[in-house]
Amino acid sequence: MSKKFSTNPLRGMKDFYPPDLREINWIIDTIRDVASLYSYDEFESPKLESIEIFAAKSSDELVNEQSFLVEKKKGERLILIPELTPSLARMISAKSQELKKPIRWFSVPTCYRYERPQKGRRREFKQINMDILGENSLYAELEIFNAVVDIFLEFGATPDQFQIFYNNRRFIDSVCELILNVSKDKLQLVYKVLDKSDKMEETEYEKFVLDSLQDETIVQGIFKLKEATSLEDLLNKFEDIPEEFYNSRGYVELLDFNLLLSEANITEYCTFSSSVVRGLDYYTGIVFEVFDTGKDNIRSIFGGGRYDDLLSLFSDEKISGIGFGMGVLMFSLFLKTYNLIPEEIKEKDYTDTIYIASINDNMSNYALKLAKLVRDEDFPCIIDYRFKNLKNQLKKANELGVLIVLIIGPKEAENDKVSIKNMATEEQSTIDIEDLIDKIYNIIEEFGS
Ligand code: HAM
Repeated sequence: MSKKFSTNPLRGMKDFYPPDLREINWIIDTIRDVASLYSYDEFESPKLESIEIFAAKSSDELVNEQSFLVEKKKGERLILIPELTPSLARMISAKSQELKKPIRWFSVPTCYRYERPQKGRRREFKQINMDILGENSLYAELEIFNAVVDIFLEFGATPDQFQIFYNNRRFIDSVCELILNVSKDKLQLVYKVLDKSDKMEETEYEKFVLDSLQDETIVQGIFKLKEATSLEDLLNKFEDIPEEFYNSRGYVELLDFNLLLSEANITEYCTFSSSVVRGLDYYTGIVFEVFDTGKDNIRSIFGGGRYDDLLSLFSDEKISGIGFGMGVLMFSLFLKTYNLIPEEIKEKDYTDTIYIASINDNMSNYALKLAKLVRDEDFPCIIDYRFKNLKNQLKKANELGVLIVLIIGPKEAENDKVSIKNMATEEQSTIDIEDLIDKIYNIIEEFGS
């Protein structure tokens, strides 16, 4: 016997059989509907990009350790996109003159990261992106936060189940430069260290911070940022805060944003957290991570933030943006934890599917004619090609959960008639073809009520 290949997909990849795909599509469609209520336009970009644009702005880890590379020709390396934001920046830059600002865009790319597969993490995954560009005011942040809240509410989630933890990189810059005397060139290192704060064991993390920063004051500062429970608590932890700090853009912006959140009445969904910085290099302002507040999903569900300089990779134009990337897998784990996915979503609904069964095998042409008629009216239609043994055909229709079966035989075909059976009530009648569509609507309506 010849060797048989494995039927498993590659490690970290997943086959989506129809029930799984129905569930994922239901989640994506529901979020797409929220995005369109905010007037976000959907776009798509290629899965393959040149590696340089990610190397320049994403993160070392993403490009050097987690990327899937494709060799086009010898030496010419392409990357399977690990995230969308650099491609978004490329597309906006290419048409920035003609695009009306602010630009509100939505996309659901498939992304690739060579990570250890684990709960909520695969090597191939769908990521929902929503970004607004060309709006510098904090109203853009507010819009994104409002949309995030609406997404959760649309699925029936409550504020005790999720929280948006937010911070501002400019605020961290002010703390570092004006309170901790950290030099500018060490800021990226501080972000990196803070980003790992909830991803490591405590002792491992302490060693990592000490090894990375090698300065006792900065190290103490990092732990204060990590441990503070509120803005007030954080500031109380520092002695001698200079006046300059209170006038700094980072601090003022944070206070302004807090005010906006409370005016918009969404503070119950949002919590300031001085340890949130996000792992990608391009963020410059407000950053956020959304967490499940329960114990089942420890990792952040998704995150995003403001990026000011991303387009500089492609042009001298300055367009700032803010948005988020949401792993559909992580989000579905959240929804499952709180039973927010209706059971029946996975099942195919045959209620409005018309099933054509035939008494004998001369009926094929008539069956095809009827099928065209009902499909032209947008009803899905299945023809049973066995064309005999009516009992078996009806049994099959019943197993699928079909509501309406059309039964045809020579008498019906000769007189342009059709027998229609309501499988729920078992009622059956023979009607003229021209009355068929009305009758179908009647049966479905009656069933619905
Ligand atoms: P990110 O934090 O790298 O940000 O990824 C965002 C989300 O994508 C994660 O929080 C998670 O939900 C999902 N995700 C990441 N890696 C995986 C994986 N291996 N398997 C499953 N899901 C995963 C970004 O990608 C930014 N570009 C987001 C953004 C858009 N910021 C502004 N606009």
